[in-house]
Amino acid sequence: MPDPRPTPIPASIDVRFVPHHIGVVMDGNGRWAQRRGLARTEGHGAGEEALVDVTYGALALGVGVLTVYAFSTENWRRPVDEVRYLMNFNRGLLQRRQHELHSDGVRIVFSGRRDWRVPRRVLKSMQDASELTKDNRAMTLNIAFNYGGRAEIVDAVQRLVSDGIDPSRVTEMAIRSRLYHPEIPDPDLVIRTSGEYRISNFLLWEMAYSELVFSEVLWPDFRREDLYGAIEEFQQRVRRFGGVDT
Ligand code: IPE
Ligand code: IPE
Ligand code: MG
Repeated sequence: MPDPRPTPIPASIDVRFVPHHIGVVMDGNGRWAQRRGLARTEGHGAGEEALVDVTYGALALGVGVLTVYAFSTENWRRPVDEVRYLMNFNRGLLQRRQHELHSDGVRIVFSGRRDWRVPRRVLKSMQDASELTKDNRAMTLNIAFNYGGRAEIVDAVQRLVSDGIDPSRVTEMAIRSRLYHPEIPDPDLVIRTSGEYRISNFLLWEMAYSELVFSEVLWPDFRREDLYGAIEEFQQRVRRFGGVDT
């Protein structure tokens, strides 16, 4: 299916230096709804259009990996009705969107815990979407679902221990290779919407040297133009990785 809203890439973006991996904390759905006198869940529903538009915007630009934070390990603390809505919504979103994403060459993967709290039918939809799209190469959409950065590190350490790794061989590489997607390079750019300036347990290990861009826009209003704006900001940063400018 063609891009539902093909949009020219602004000349201010240097297409030779597009971040390979972009992470997004899709925040502000509840406030978006509350400002309209709607239920918080309506805000989550409205976030679908933002996700689709940003995904196509990233694809058009040649981004390699887009990681989106859809549900955190702490989001279980929300009212049961909202949690239930989010579970069903994410399942529905996959069922509604996987075919178009598939025909556009998007590989869908997931990061997070597949624990007992995630309903079986949701796990099944996740499995179906990753199976359907596993050979696609145009872009990877990594959905962080029941994801926590600390949980990811704990899970990696558990695997280290169960692999019987000698303490002298516990290196960054040994840990990294046991994260959820060791094949995905660290994010170059992480964007958080809705004017919140925190990480909220997103990609803790992987974000060590990511550039951070914060946007005031609430997630349901975020579109590829906002993504392109964040990329422009990214392109003005100087990444030193602890070294000095050359
Ligand atoms: C982000 O929007 C979506 C999820 C965390 C699932 P919020 O629901 O956190 O929206 P605000 O922050 O309350 O506005
Ligand atoms: C982070 O947003 C999680 C997702 C976007 C899925 P939250 O809204 O849960 O974060 P806090 O509670 O404001 O830190
Ligand atoms: Mg929030």
